[in-house]
Amino acid sequence: MGKAICFVLLSFHIILSLFVAEICGNKQVGALDNLHKSKLRGGSQIDRSEFKVEEFVHDDDDDDAVIVHSQKGLKEKDKIERLPGQPQVKFSQYGGYVTIDKVAGSAFYYYFVEAQRSKQSLPLLLWLNGGPGCSSLAYGAMQELGPFRVNSDGKTLYRNNYSWNYAANVLFLESPVGVGFSYSNRSSDYSSNGDKKTAVDNYLFLVNWLERFPEYKNREFYISGESYAGHYVPQLAHTILQFNKKARKTIINLKGILIGNAVINDETDSKGMYDFLASHAIISEKAAYDINKSCDFSSSNQTSECNAASDEIDKDISFIDLYNIYAPVCKNSNLTAHPNKISIVIDPCSENYVYAYLNRGDVQEALHANVTHLKYDWEPCSDVITKWVDSSSTVLPLITQFLSNGLRVWIFSGDIDGRVPVTSTKYSIDKLNLPIQTVWHPWFAYGEVGGYTEVYKGNLTFATVRGAGHQVPSYQPARALSLIKHFLQGTPLPQTKTIA
Ligand SMILES: *[C@@H]1O[C@H](CO)[C@@H](O)[C@H](O)[C@H]1NC(C)=O
Ligand SMILES: *[C@@H]1O[C@H](CO)[C@@H](O)[C@H](O)[C@H]1NC(C)=O
Ligand SMILES: *[C@@H]1O[C@H](CO)[C@@H](O)[C@H](O)[C@H]1NC(C)=O
Ligand SMILES: *[C@@H]1O[C@H](CO)[C@@H](O)[C@H](O)[C@H]1NC(C)=O
Ligand SMILES: *[C@@H]1O[C@H](CO)[C@@H](O)[C@H](O)[C@H]1NC(C)=O
Ligand SMILES: *[C@@H]1O[C@H](CO)[C@@H](O)[C@H](O)[C@H]1NC(C)=O
Ligand SMILES: *[C@@H]1O[C@H](CO)[C@@H](O)[C@H](O)[C@H]1NC(C)=O
Repeated sequence: MGKAICFVLLSFHIILSLFVAEICGNKQVGALDNLHKSKLRGGSQIDRSEFKVEEFVHDDDDDDAVIVHSQKGLKEKDKIERLPGQPQVKFSQYGGYVTIDKVAGSAFYYYFVEAQRSKQSLPLLLWLNGGPGCSSLAYGAMQELGPFRVNSDGKTLYRNNYSWNYAANVLFLESPVGVGFSYSNRSSDYSSNGDKKTAVDNYLFLVNWLERFPEYKNREFYISGESYAGHYVPQLAHTILQFNKKARKTIINLKGILIGNAVINDETDSKGMYDFLASHAIISEKAAYDINKSCDFSSSNQTSECNAASDEIDKDISFIDLYNIYAPVCKNSNLTAHPNKISIVIDPCSENYVYAYLNRGDVQEALHANVTHLKYDWEPCSDVITKWVDSSSTVLPLITQFLSNGLRVWIFSGDIDGRVPVTSTKYSIDKLNLPIQTVWHPWFAYGEVGGYTEVYKGNLTFATVRGAGHQVPSYQPARALSLIKHFLQGTPLPQTKTIA
């Protein structure tokens, strides 16, 4: 596949007008970088105005009746008997398509795992990955918090002992169209994706999915995600609140959101990245100084001094995994005849194993995926989406809205991610100017410091996860499971040593 090589070649020298370049668009590492660069450079055409959903809420009295279609019998058809190479499990799995736009012929693919126990009482949790263009099946389900991970043979699975379906019924969604197995029969849809369309389509997906799984309709519902899902999660939550408000009833019982290493505010996200790299001895103090002096991260066009400074920095970061600055990189992406010994921390080549597994015909059949025989392969991050039309420069106003609506908001951060690092998140939260409710303290999991946390008035919890990169559950699965359990239960992170 040559993907590992393409990661190394990624360079600031490539001035992009489209967010997904042919080079490297299919890796999470590439996708976010490309959007970031095209937003900040070259006077991009991306609309960065504040996200609003009002314009999408039609004025008919019964919105929800119009957009929800009959899902009769589809749940049973979506039940996954067993995935190829899968160990025996006791919980149920489902996978299939939900039609988003009948006229265009677009549909989103989902994968749903019910809780290992107490599925009737545990909440429903949606997980979204970012990119934009990256698949929640590729990362969330198969490399982070799902019940299985793919062995190095690319055809068998092993269990993730810290799967989040110990805490919730977990729904993974590939969105928007062009991501993973999600598609549209109208090809122009691949060049009209953006934040706004994604939020509305995700909403349409949800209300129809709940119609297919009506037992979850009144269940407590939470949305979680990482990276560019720092946009998707609040934007979907905002859309849900708008529709609930308009209908004057609870259509979706949204209780809270949780985002990790999340893109939330361009200016502070960017500044925090360079400060993190300088303070972790990856770039020089001079480079950080030059960047700070010559770049304006709230602008979409930079001076040549700024471009020169970021090119200089590129030389320092090209050969490490910026998404976990201390992790080994994948040196041999070939599959093995027999599974390698598994370890609790993710194998740096695992993306290749997932790629091989999800492109197998028998796997796609078991998942009820790719039923229309798409002309391109399944990729962890899309290489068929050609344009991203809008990406608001901040989602902080949405966070403020949630706090005043009593939604639970948790923002976490793997503290060795160099891409959307902990400094970025701290600077962004500072922008909210919230008084402190519980002062900074270590939180404990399994007898050790899981990270550090601070709680702000209005119920915003910030928590770091110690020793985790961008994909927190891949690197610190036990701490991540502990975090999600406390979030879902609405209990503070433990201030003293505990064993669980
Ligand atoms: C971007 O900035 C450069 C240098 O300041 C300037 O020459 C160029 O015209 C600007 N481009 C756009 C599209 O604003
Ligand atoms: C897309 O087109 C295929 C082939 O005509 C059809 O089977 C499928 O149902 C269409 N998808 C949607 C969501 O309408
Ligand atoms: C960055 O620049 C601003 C003003 O341009 C200045 O106030 C600030 O001290 C600088 N920060 C660093 C770390 O150099
Ligand atoms: C990977 O497989 C290819 C094709 O079989 C082979 O040429 C190559 O040497 C292998 N790479 C490594 C690092 O083993
Ligand atoms: C997961 O748990 C099972 C059963 O306790 C154990 O046999 C296995 O070694 C564990 N796997 C990992 C990777 O820790
Ligand atoms: C869908 O299936 C076709 C074979 O029918 C295959 O060539 C293609 O790579 C698959 N695409 C995806 C996105 O899985
Ligand atoms: C914050 O959470 C606590 C405990 O769950 C709750 O009692 C309180 O009402 C919440 N405050 C706000 C402003 O939502």
